[in-house]
Amino acid sequence: MDKVTIFDTTLRDGEQAAGGMLNVQEKLEIARQLEKLGVDVIEGGFPASSKGDFEAVRLIAREIRQSAICALTHANAKAIDTAWEAIQEAEHPRIHVFLSASDVHLSYQLKKSREEVLGQARDMVARAKTYVNDVEFSPMDASRTDPAYLYMILEAVIKAGATTVNIPDTVGYAIPQEFGNLIQGIFRNVPNIGRAIVSVHCHDDLGLAVANSLEAVRQGARQVECTLNGIGERAGNASLEEIVMALKTRHDLFNLTTRIDTTQIYKTSRLVSELTGFMVQPNKAVVGSNAFRHQSGIHQDGVIKKAITYEIMDPRDVGIPASRLVLGKLSGRHAFRERLAELGLALAEEELNRAFDAFKEVAEKKKEVTDRDLETLVAEEMRTASEIYHLDHIGVSCGDHGIPTATVRLIGPNDQVFADAALGAGPVDAVYRAINRIIGVPNKLTEFSVSSVTAGIDAIGEVLIRIESDGVSYTGRGAATDIIVASARAYMNALNRLLAAKKRNSVDSI
Ligand code: KIV
Ligand code: ZN
Repeated sequence: MDKVTIFDTTLRDGEQAAGGMLNVQEKLEIARQLEKLGVDVIEGGFPASSKGDFEAVRLIAREIRQSAICALTHANAKAIDTAWEAIQEAEHPRIHVFLSASDVHLSYQLKKSREEVLGQARDMVARAKTYVNDVEFSPMDASRTDPAYLYMILEAVIKAGATTVNIPDTVGYAIPQEFGNLIQGIFRNVPNIGRAIVSVHCHDDLGLAVANSLEAVRQGARQVECTLNGIGERAGNASLEEIVMALKTRHDLFNLTTRIDTTQIYKTSRLVSELTGFMVQPNKAVVGSNAFRHQSGIHQDGVIKKAITYEIMDPRDVGIPASRLVLGKLSGRHAFRERLAELGLALAEEELNRAFDAFKEVAEKKKEVTDRDLETLVAEEMRTASEIYHLDHIGVSCGDHGIPTATVRLIGPNDQVFADAALGAGPVDAVYRAINRIIGVPNKLTEFSVSSVTAGIDAIGEVLIRIESDGVSYTGRGAATDIIVASARAYMNALNRLLAAKKRNSVDSI
């Protein structure tokens, strides 16, 4: 087989990452983009884990037609039934059953014998098989499992109907050569392995998730589980964009293809970052803002003469368009619209008008408005489109003497206008207090960070915050050339998400 199946688990393992709460609509939006990206399998979630996950998987299964939709489940009858209920409307449904296999997990966590676990794995795969033909089984912590026992489990689950057997390096412990040997051992020692696809699922605790996955592929694995931007539990999962671009760029070595439309990578990466609130580090391979930026004179000289001197990938291949236009305060609506289209940012007429106004405001303050600025402006526009409360005005007085004071005006449901003021320890604190006096939903700020979208004193500042309410974490983002305004927008974004979740939950419980 010369094709590698790309199994995307951004919406399941990626979302599991601390604080990565996505709501149902956001999951659906990411799933639509994953389908455009061309992933073979979308792991939509873990339906038995929460009502929200069940609903998200159900909606994704109902809408997405090209990619297979997978639901993760514990190896117990009730959870498997729930997983099936969530994906039954999918065009290509898959159930993914997992159960720990290592002695460490068996003795300390499951408190079960190897025989019991083997029987449970076999029986639960058989149960999933009564619902659907496409069944995947994962022996959790496989890389720390006795290989002889692992072979026995794999043989048993394949006999019971598993069509994919996934080998997780759950704790990111493996080293490439060792992991490759494990995969080779599976091909040599599991008699019926030819009846299933061997998959791998690597975590990045030692920074080796991609290397381990690629070595497994070299040894015959034909499915890789991965996430956009490498997000996931702890240090994350193998990054989809790195796996796909390694296979493409080094086709000479692997001689393998994927179904991924690589020109959708950048857009998908930005969407995931935007909705999860996990920023992409500038030096991140393939999608980082510096990934195709050449700083040293000798490199710049080489790239100008011939890109291949220092560029192993064409940025356009991952969907980063070569900038032909630089926008500034004299740019008109037409150039603005055209540049957005080149960036793959499609806006409805009214959204476009609002984004253009925001662009003009920024262009008055900034000499050049870059692509990253435009993406940030459009993201800001999208965020405000579904607000319950909108920030209409903010005013702050602060300095090294006197008490920071903020006034805010919000537009609420039915266009009702609210205004209030507050004092604070600093200007952001004063703004947040003033907003709290109006909205009045108890919450705790757990994270606050500011970064600049581009270099330069006139750069747009982007603020990322997390707030917690009733044990649930909500992310908020805001952008503006003034970082106090950006902070206020980020807070409004988080509060609007919190209010929307509360509204959904109260409807659910009726
Ligand atoms: O890391 C892991 O072992 C998992 C399994 C559920 C596949 O995420
Ligand atoms: Zn995992």
